[in-house]
Amino acid sequence: MSNQTPNPAAEVAVTGHVYDGIQEYDNPLPGWWTLVFYLTILYSIGYLFINFAQPQWVDSNFEYEASVAAELQRQFAELGELEPDGATLMSFLSDPEQAKWLKVGEAVFMTNCVSCHGRDGSGVSGPNMTDDHFLNVAVLEDIPKVVSEGAKEGAMPAWGNRLGKNEIILVSAYAASLRGLGLPSAGGRPEEGKVIAPWSAAASK
Ligand code: HEC
Repeated sequence: MSNQTPNPAAEVAVTGHVYDGIQEYDNPLPGWWTLVFYLTILYSIGYLFINFAQPQWVDSNFEYEASVAAELQRQFAELGELEPDGATLMSFLSDPEQAKWLKVGEAVFMTNCVSCHGRDGSGVSGPNMTDDHFLNVAVLEDIPKVVSEGAKEGAMPAWGNRLGKNEIILVSAYAASLRGLGLPSAGGRPEEGKVIAPWSAAASK
């Protein structure tokens, strides 16, 4: 066994150039390393292409949104097809078992309604829903009607083509649940329209 250190200068070729007397060994990177390096470049080109052409392959948001949509579908299947009547709406307001659906209504409200009605429902360009005064609503079932058909020549948009039937009913129930929160300190809009009777399952005349 020799423990003699080999003299590098004797075994390794030099590149031939000299900088301030310093020479450089001609010591190429191992082949496997160079190969991996070129593979990373190829991979990045492929990744860049996929990122723009097929983003759902690399972006987990797509997977997330698909599973959220699937979960909503599953929940809506459990709900069945709701009727936009006072009794149905009242059940979401008064039955604790059903109250979880207000969360779904709240999500619809946060996505579509807050720009005009405010995050807390106290009104921006659209009226305050936290007081007892209403412009287009006398009984509960008027709410899904207004939401579907809109009001004031589109100042309140019609959501009938943009939201599902159940979504309209759940967002209506959520809007109804804001009543009585009376948020005078939250800014919002002053009372508009007439004072109406407390919510009940009654049908409109
Ligand atoms: C572009 C603004 C805008 C958006 C977005 C909007 N609204 Fe409205 N909404 C209004 C306006 C303005 C009125 C008042 C119409 C009137 O004066 O008759 C109104 C009225 C209403 C009323 C009747 C209130 C009353 O006092 O009679 C309800 C209920 C309502 N909106 C629910 C919703 C829901 C639920 C959404 C979301 C799905 C929504 N709105 C989205 C502007 C909007």
